Amino acid sequence: MTTKGKTVLITGSTDGVGRYVAERLAAQGWGVIVHGRDRARGEAVVERIAQQGGKARFLVADLASLAEVRSLADAVRREGDGLDALVNNAGIGTSGARRELSADGFELRFAVNYLAGFLLTRLLLPMLTSQKSARIVNVSSAGQQAIDFSDVMLTRGYSGVRAYCQSKLAQILFTFDLAKELAGQNIAVNCLHPATYMDTTMVRLSGVRPISTVEQGGAAILQLVDEPAFAGRSGLYFSGMQELRADRQAYDEDARRRLRALSFDLVGHADPLAGPSD
Ligand SMILES: NC(=O)c1ccc[n+]([C@@H]2O[C@H](COP(=O)([O-])OP(=O)(O)OC[C@H]3O[C@@H](n4cnc5c(N)ncnc54)[C@H](OP(=O)(O)O)[C@@H]3O)[C@@H](O)[C@H]2O)c1
Repeated sequence: MTTKGKTVLITGSTDGVGRYVAERLAAQGWGVIVHGRDRARGEAVVERIAQQGGKARFLVADLASLAEVRSLADAVRREGDGLDALVNNAGIGTSGARRELSADGFELRFAVNYLAGFLLTRLLLPMLTSQKSARIVNVSSAGQQAIDFSDVMLTRGYSGVRAYCQSKLAQILFTFDLAKELAGQNIAVNCLHPATYMDTTMVRLSGVRPISTVEQGGAAILQLVDEPAFAGRSGLYFSGMQELRADRQAYDEDARRRLRALSFDLVGHADPLAGPSD
């Protein structure tokens, strides 16, 4: 199988669509790094994959802490197997009326759903770009709300839905920005809405009745990770299996530039593309 020897990291693969994608990729011959914040559930996923003849290991990190994101990237590097694909899938949903903060003091959904993936990707980029070909897939959503750059941490007018939708659009701006930066290299960076109201913990917690399955959303993620025809296609947003336009802020270069600058600032890294006067 052509995928033999390839390695993928899937964040948030202890549950939901991430766990489904982990099991499917392992069955196709990928070495899978299962990630989550709960060791017992992570080990259970690894054991199930092993029982089915697949290869997987578990790395623990709470993405609500940038220090743990850094430890996760260090652990992936230490494994020494290389990295062919990164799926930024971990996320928290819309439920909860109270504004919450991450360990670093950032609005929690912005921190977990977007900023953790931003930092993890930047830290693992040298591993990915050193491969002959690589993929980054950001699991976003059709639920998108424009980022208000005067109040990104949502100190006013907070709702769980607004926080979730802002974080999901931030992932799309990041995807388009990174794809542009990496244009011409053998790495595809894409994002998607996997499926609407899949039957997962996140959806059940929000009180919504599921209308699609993890198999449907999983197929859309797998297409972007594994489909050979997608090797040269980058900087795209998909809804399920179809390419679609995202919220218009995703096409606003100034908004992308502002989010990029803010994100490097929040994670305390210098932007490799910024000139000395920036
Ligand atoms: N479900 C849908 O209909 C739908 C629609 C559009 C987009 N999406 C997106 O699809 C992705 C997966 O969602 P899902 O529906 O499969 O949700 P899920 O079943 O609730 O799974 C979420 C995963 O993320 C992990 N996670 C959450 N917070 C974390 C943290 N602080 N640190 C580390 N891991 C954390 C969870 O770990 P635990 O097991 O420890 O909680 C779990 O493994 C999300 O990005 C979501 O926004 C879902």
